[in-house]
Order: sequence, then C-alpha cells, then structure tokens
Amino acid sequence: MHNNTPIPKVPGIIYGGDYNPEQWPESVWLEDVQLMREAGVNLVSIAIFSWSKLQPAEDHYCFEWLDRLMDLLHENEIYANLATATASPPPWMSRYPDLAAVDEDGRSYCHGSRQHYSPSSPTYRRFAAALVRRLAERYRAHPALAAWHINNEYGCHISACHSEVSARAFRVWLKQRYKTLDSLNAAWNTAFWSQIYYSWEDIQTPRKVPTFANPTQLLDFRRFSSDALLDLYRMEKEILREYTPQLPVTTNLMGKFKPLDYWAWAKELDFVSWDSYPDFLPGANPCHNAAEGHDLTRSLGGGRPYVLMEHVTSHVHWRSINPGKLPGMIRLYGLQAIARGGDGAMYFQWRQSLAGAEQFHGSVLQHGVPAGEGRVFREVAGLGADLKKLKAVTGTEIRSRVGIVMDWNSWWALEDPGKPAPFDYAESLAAVHRYFYERNIAVDFVEPGADFGKYDLLIAPQLYLLDLTDAQGLASYVEAGGRLLTTCFSGIVDSQAHVVPGGYPAALRQVLGLWVEEWFPLAESECRDLKWLDGSGVIEGRDWSEVIHLDSAGALADFTDGHLAGMPAVTRNNFGKGQAFYIGTVLRDQSLARVLDQVCSGLNLSPIVSAPDGVEVSLRESADHSFLFLLNHNQEPVEVVLGEVSGQDLLSGKSLQDRCLLPAFGVIVLGF
Ligand code: GLA
Repeated sequence: MHNNTPIPKVPGIIYGGDYNPEQWPESVWLEDVQLMREAGVNLVSIAIFSWSKLQPAEDHYCFEWLDRLMDLLHENEIYANLATATASPPPWMSRYPDLAAVDEDGRSYCHGSRQHYSPSSPTYRRFAAALVRRLAERYRAHPALAAWHINNEYGCHISACHSEVSARAFRVWLKQRYKTLDSLNAAWNTAFWSQIYYSWEDIQTPRKVPTFANPTQLLDFRRFSSDALLDLYRMEKEILREYTPQLPVTTNLMGKFKPLDYWAWAKELDFVSWDSYPDFLPGANPCHNAAEGHDLTRSLGGGRPYVLMEHVTSHVHWRSINPGKLPGMIRLYGLQAIARGGDGAMYFQWRQSLAGAEQFHGSVLQHGVPAGEGRVFREVAGLGADLKKLKAVTGTEIRSRVGIVMDWNSWWALEDPGKPAPFDYAESLAAVHRYFYERNIAVDFVEPGADFGKYDLLIAPQLYLLDLTDAQGLASYVEAGGRLLTTCFSGIVDSQAHVVPGGYPAALRQVLGLWVEEWFPLAESECRDLKWLDGSGVIEGRDWSEVIHLDSAGALADFTDGHLAGMPAVTRNNFGKGQAFYIGTVLRDQSLARVLDQVCSGLNLSPIVSAPDGVEVSLRESADHSFLFLLNHNQEPVEVVLGEVSGQDLLSGKSLQDRCLLPAFGVIVLGF
C-alpha cells in the first residue's frame, strides 16, 4: 500500500505527538484536546505504553478508557496513530519464565522499566498477538483511527537476547539459512579453534566466551536478532491487515541505529517514520545530525515522504547534560524535517509527566507553566499554523544525484572484534554526509544491491563486507559511466565474513585497478602527509596507511613520510565509461573535502541557490511544483542571494526575488 502521502486520512502536514493521557484524570484530557486544536495538532500517537492498563490480567481486558479517548479525539477532529501497546508487557506476564530477555552473561531482565521481553518468547508472542487482534477488532471502523503504530523503537534497549528460547529460535533460523550442519560449519569455519558442530542442539547464541568469538557466528547472531524483532513486527502487521487493509502501518525507527538492519525493516513499513534526538551541547552539530537521519529515513522509504514521529520541544533527560532548544529552534527543527522530505513532525510528548522515568523530559505542555501559555507552547502553536500553509508540499520529493552506500551487515562485521584497527562506521558515513550537507547538495543513502541508475556519484565508505553480486553491481555501475569513491578496508570479506582471496580488496580489485599488499594502522597520535601529484598541496591521513600496488589505476596523491613515502594513497581508475576513486587512509574534514572536491568535479552538483554558511538549502519537487527551503541555523540574520530563483514564501506570503533576509533561526519556503 504505497502512495506518496504517509497517512492518507490526515490532510496536509502531519503534526502532533505522543500522547499518554492514561497518566492523567479524564478532566485533563478535555484541556489537552482543546490545546491541541489551538496548536494545529491533527494526529496523536496513543496507547504506546498502555498494555498494563489495557490488560490488567491474563483474561481481562479494559478498553473503555481508550474508547472514550478515541471518541474525544474524533469529536475534536484529531486523528489517532493508534499504537498496538506491545512495547512494555505488564508485570503479571513475568510469571511466565520465558518472557524475560537474557543478556550475554546469562542475567535476566526484570519488569519495572520497559522492553524487558525476549523477542523469541512464545509467551510474549501469544499475548501480543491476542492484544493486537482485540485492538484491531474494536477500533477497525473508528473514524479517529488513521494509522497503526506497532510497538515502539524496536530494539532500543534490548536488541539481542541469550535466553533458552532465543537459542532455540537461533537454531531454527540457522537451519533455514544453512540447511545442513556441514554448510554451517563451512560458513563459520569451525575447523578453526575446534568449534565443529555435530548437532544443532550444541549451537548457542554467542554468550560470554573467554576471548574472540567466531566472527561469522557473531554476524549471524546479529542478523538473527534483527530478524527476530522484525518477525514480531510482521506478526502484528499481518493481524492488522486482516482488519484494516486500507490503513497504513508503521513503527518508529531511530536513524543510524546499529542493531537493526533497517533496509530489511523499511520494506515492511507502509510509511517510514523515525525519532530524532540530536545532542544540543555546543560543538555537537545537531542540525547536521538531524539532517543525516532525515536523509537516511527518506532513503529507507525509497524517497517517499516520511514522518518525524518524535522529537523534543526542548531537552531530553537521558544524556548527562541535556541542553534545551533556544527560542526559534522548535520551528527551525520542525521545518527541517519537512525540508528534507518529511510530511510530518511529531513530538515526544504532549504533556510532561509529573512522575515516572521521563518526568524531566521536555514536552509541549510543561511542568509549572500554565497550560496554553509559555514560550514553548507558543512556538509549538506557531509552527502548527505554519505547517497548515505547507499543504502543497506534501507528497513532493527530493531529487538526489549522489548516493552514499550504506550497509548494516558491513557495519556489524567491520566493528566486531579482531580487526587490524578499530573503525567507526557511523562516523565514516557522517563525515561523507557532512561534506554534502555543508554544500547543500542533496544526497540519498543506498543499499549495496540497489539500482544505482539515477546517481551520478556513489560514495561507499569502509564497505568492509561486500556480497560478491553487489560488488559486481558497483563495477557495472562504474562501467556504465558512474563515478564511485570507496575507502580503505572496503571489499575485504564476502557475506559470510570470509576474506575474498586475490589481493585486497579482491571484490573491487578490477574496478579500482589496484591491490593492497599490507596494512599499517596508525596510532591516534600519528598522521601521514599525503601530497597531491598535481602540486596542489598536502592533506593529512589518519588511523590507517597501506601498501597499494597500481594495476590500471593512477595515483592522485602519494604518502610522503615513513617507509610508504612515494607510494600511492589516493587513486583513480578509468573503468569502462566511468571512474573509480580510492583512498588508502582515513581523511577528516578539510582533507576529506579536498578529495571529495576532486571526485565531484565536473558533475555540476551545486544547489540552485548558493547560501552563506549555516543556511541549509533543500529543494522538494513534483512534476509541476518546486519548494525551496532555506533554513538559517545561525543565531544572527543572514542575506541569501536568490539569483534566478523567485517565487512566493509560503510562510510569510511575500513574493521574493533577487535576495532575501533570513532572521536568526528563520525559515523561508519559496514556492515556484
Ligand atoms: C524514545 C521513545 C519515547 C521516549 C523518548 C525520550 O524516542 O520512543 O518513548 O522514551 O525516547 O526521548
């Protein structure tokens, strides 16, 4: 059920948040909905953590309060993103010993917080399915129901489990994958360190072991753990489909979240949604951090509009220091979600709890501030009014010509222990994304096996594990005229985490036109100078150096110091109609930018408006409309030269041409 609007029943941009009224007397609900109307809220996520209220005992359900809430929302023209409430099982369910998740040391998790269940627990599965069925039966025709929100942030706290039931489920998963023990033993290379299995029953999850665990076992366990949670999601979705085939179903993802393979997950979501909580401490670069998550989320959904399911009005409570958003930033960050391809911006949460684990988490209605007053509420309501003016933007897309290749399997394998040096995959992706973000060049994330036809440039940082078919896909892309950049320690192992023989990186050797004989990782305090052979200066390599032999590639820059002096560090290979670039070290900031400038040259990737530093530019388009978003992340006003672009600012209603002034944290949405 894909169309270009995430939730067809909700007209315009989706706006609202998590609403947990079960914490409050019903008299408060009336005030809540009144204020929601005032703030322009059209959707609330409800019942996310209501299981113990909905099911006080095994054979006793209690939906009356939710009936009244759904009716109240409907009377007030607010739609429900109704959760299936399965994120936190009630305490009584812990009487079943298989419910609890178990850590790698064999210690069980108890109720008293949330998400303590084992993803493979038959008890959890049985009760979750029964609850979802009852919810679907009861609310299927309710006019307030617009979408289903399954569970909540799957895997956020418990993403892997080592209980007995999980070990059993792992064995079933392995049997499906390998069919025979012989093929499992071959894949895991169990001849090493005497690990050969002669019975499926002897296989365990990778619990605490004396030293390095079997890498392919670890990798398979990560795959299994992502699949085990996805299986729970699917179970719920299938039940919901029986009752409401016309309504979209989602669960809230978390951007670059390592434990779950979101490429696999996103295919199961009717629309993709995510929760964004960048750090606002000075120096943390929250605008880039949020932008990267938006771009990933949009890409996960194949470019269709997504929903920002949660972000905060002010501050979170779960970092050691939790700075708030400055005045103007609620609007700025809400509109950023729309600028980068979202059709909705929601908060966690509507009313701040007086007690409970999140009592100091920011909300729309805050402790001690008279309801409907205060700076935060005024800004939230102001944004609600702004979003109403952006209805025409819904359904439009971002058109990117650059793709960053990203892969969860590679992330897992790269960062599992036993490598020549520690790698930080998330940072490698962020560094590349930051380059394009700072230049306002639209960029997608893509999976290694995707169709790359629409991209003029692909960057694949540290793609350590590479399926051989996907490697072939990258080579064909270049052969057909594409441009590819990859970096050190890419294409080293296949999908079973076995080194591909034939000279590193064998899987990419032909397309890169080189091979690597030896690696020389660097200490944190070390760096290596790299000299451009065209005489254009020197850049700085960190973390890693290596001995590169050129087959058909040419060197662009050489190492200058130590025993690698004079050997290639950055290379380019003409392959078919395209070009493949390679960096044999780790580059940061200006050094990385120097290489990316060269890789991008001639592609004409510049945005349609060139804006001053700190102004984010994003273009959303449809067949006949364009919307140019200009977001000023600076604390002072800036002028933007519009050049050829002119149109009407949808927010202020003013016609703009030649140049425009953006106040501190100001936003313009130019329609043309
Ligand atoms: C997550 C959860 C919410 C809440 C917020 C707090 O996103 O989904 O339930 O805990 O974090 O930041």
